[in-house]
Amino acid sequence: MSRRSALSRLSALVALGAGVFTAPRVAHAKQVDHRALVEDLIARMTIEEKAGQLNLLGDPFRFRPQNVNPLDGQGDPARITQMIREGKVGNLFNGVGAEAGRRIQRIAVEESRLKIPLLFAADIIHGFSTVFPVPLAEASAFDPELSRRTARAAALEGAVSAVHQNYAPMVDVGRDQRWGRGVEGAGEDVLLNERLAAARVRGIQGEKGLADRDALLATPKHFVAYSAVQGGMDYNTVEMSEATLRGVFLPPFWAALQAGAGSVMSAFNDLNGVPSSGSHHLLTEILRDEWAFTGFVVSDYTSEKELIAHGFAEDGRDAARIALMAGVDMGMQSGLFMDYIPDLVARGDVPIARVDQAVRRVLMTKAALGLFENPYRGTDPVRERAIVGSREHHDLAREAGRKSIVLLKNEGGLLPLKSQGQKIALIGPFGSDVDNVFGPWTIWGDESRRVSLEAGFRAAMQNPGDLTVVRGSDVEGPLFGGIAQAVQAAQQADVVVLAIGESAKMSGEAQSRTDIVVPAAQQALAEAVAATGTPVVVVLRNGRALELEGAVKDARAVVVSWFLGSQMGHSVADVLFGAHSPSGRLPVSFPHRSGQQPFSYDHKTTGRPANPNLAVEEYTARYRETTNTALYPFGHGLTYGEVRYGAATLSSPTLGWNDEVRVSVPVTNTAARPVVETVQLYIHDRVASLTQPGQRLRDFRKVELPAGQTRTVTFTLKRSMLEFFDNGGAATVQPGVFDLWLAPSAQTGQSISVTLTGL
Ligand code: BGC
Repeated sequence: MSRRSALSRLSALVALGAGVFTAPRVAHAKQVDHRALVEDLIARMTIEEKAGQLNLLGDPFRFRPQNVNPLDGQGDPARITQMIREGKVGNLFNGVGAEAGRRIQRIAVEESRLKIPLLFAADIIHGFSTVFPVPLAEASAFDPELSRRTARAAALEGAVSAVHQNYAPMVDVGRDQRWGRGVEGAGEDVLLNERLAAARVRGIQGEKGLADRDALLATPKHFVAYSAVQGGMDYNTVEMSEATLRGVFLPPFWAALQAGAGSVMSAFNDLNGVPSSGSHHLLTEILRDEWAFTGFVVSDYTSEKELIAHGFAEDGRDAARIALMAGVDMGMQSGLFMDYIPDLVARGDVPIARVDQAVRRVLMTKAALGLFENPYRGTDPVRERAIVGSREHHDLAREAGRKSIVLLKNEGGLLPLKSQGQKIALIGPFGSDVDNVFGPWTIWGDESRRVSLEAGFRAAMQNPGDLTVVRGSDVEGPLFGGIAQAVQAAQQADVVVLAIGESAKMSGEAQSRTDIVVPAAQQALAEAVAATGTPVVVVLRNGRALELEGAVKDARAVVVSWFLGSQMGHSVADVLFGAHSPSGRLPVSFPHRSGQQPFSYDHKTTGRPANPNLAVEEYTARYRETTNTALYPFGHGLTYGEVRYGAATLSSPTLGWNDEVRVSVPVTNTAARPVVETVQLYIHDRVASLTQPGQRLRDFRKVELPAGQTRTVTFTLKRSMLEFFDNGGAATVQPGVFDLWLAPSAQTGQSISVTLTGL
């Protein structure tokens, strides 16, 4: 269904009253029962009990000490037990564990007056006990089915550990590499974000409906435009046009909701002067009135309270009122809803109907999850032991890891390495490291099963004696004598693998950077090692695109390995030693310089487009130091061997308003081994009622190419793929000429054109 027809269908449903609430994916008969049950409860609840259902607090029972958010103060178990008994908290987050989950749930369903089950939520961002690649890494696979599978495995491990809701996927489009949280998302492109958002939602919620004991409720976040913060600084202000909001930042949320996501998290940032968690326009006009979303909205961690610091609310009472009236249904961690809803209603500042609506959404979701029938879902320790961290999940982590690796360059075929007869010096702070294989946002990863690069290499090499491992430097500071040791090891080796980059703590929440470079101590290490003349393979560990300089940029081979999770060492070895050809593609552009940020390949042409082939061209859109292009563009990634693209062809030079045309390209694997190629379709709208990006990805396809074979890849182009949003929020397109590229990356070559004709 096209976006437009889906929208009009949803609007029609709203008009008929069907959009008031329907719990997601519940069989019709059940829905009727649940409605009656929920309405009966609402009729019997006190205002305090209603406020309690809208109150979400950190779980003080099942936190592990090292995982506590430093802002929490961890909560007092005795106090929260009492609150559960009194119905003053209906939801807990970031505690896990089957047996303990049963004990806590028992308090709610046996000792509270109305026996309403608790909802347990958690941040299972890229794995639970088994850790999969960080989402940005996995986006490099350009493989929605892979993302669905890892999301399913992670959700399953959560579900058997007494979790019901997952605060994922993060679907914020990441176009500023200074912002630390890009690592949690799918990168800079809208279409890739849309496809992976939908796939991850399907994985989290499963195929059998939310009532299935192994399904988790998905929560796309952070609504909305949280990644577009000025200067790339986390929590900062956002200003943007309606066209950009609609065209770039909203589509992945729409895709996630179309895939069935049952809740949404509101963001910290303000947008055009209104904090998202207090925005009636975003949370009610768009989410409810236009999109007919029927699940509940949870605020991000105290974001409703932060309306005060934003200067948008006077005090806690005012903040609770504004957030609730804007459309936040459940408040995370601040306790404001519990503290102030009773008084707000008593004094007529919030209508009871709005409170009932929020309670209804929460209770209908609990019903959809089957919690009224089985409040103890996920609390079977036998299943927990069998499923969490299973062999199968670790195999999947290894597969996902190797598919997430991107080969940026490989001069003279330095890679793959030889598994025997080649002396390898593994140098750098990440050679034998296990502390940084998971990457940011892993709370419950099994630390005993982390595979370092060294361990992966030793397992892949015929003679592990050919491997020397030297740390050389710390991540952000020098190591006494480290460089001398590294130089000596490099001199004695045939090849150096330089494992450098960012630590897990350098990206993620609140980890914005001003310069997206390899830290100075490691750069110095790289320069010294390169000076030995031994060929160098740089293996970057990173949570964002980086500016590469000097010996890092000039190394003969450069591999982006991000943070690949539990099996990182094996995944990297699988690719470096050639058991698998690399197939990942960059989901974010690697710029020439940090100062180009924010940067995405789909920037506008401007009135003075620069010619990237000219070193200096005054009075065009470029910098003194560099053209505004990427060093390695979005979509780029090499494999072992070369894939050649032939000339693209069209089934017709014109595209009728309601027609389709097929656009095809032959791709040839010139190598002696099979490879996987990701063919990308870009468009450019030559003349439009709003200025348009120079290129926009509109489709992509992964194809397996046997050695020496050619395959023709065909895409179908329709008008809906050419549409963009105007500043009134409508999808539109005008007849005219469109350039098309079928290419291996956003740095495209020869284009062909198609003309969209009017009706
Ligand atoms: C983050 C959210 C997360 C929440 C709960 C916040 O700080 O912004 O992404 O879901 O904490 O842990």
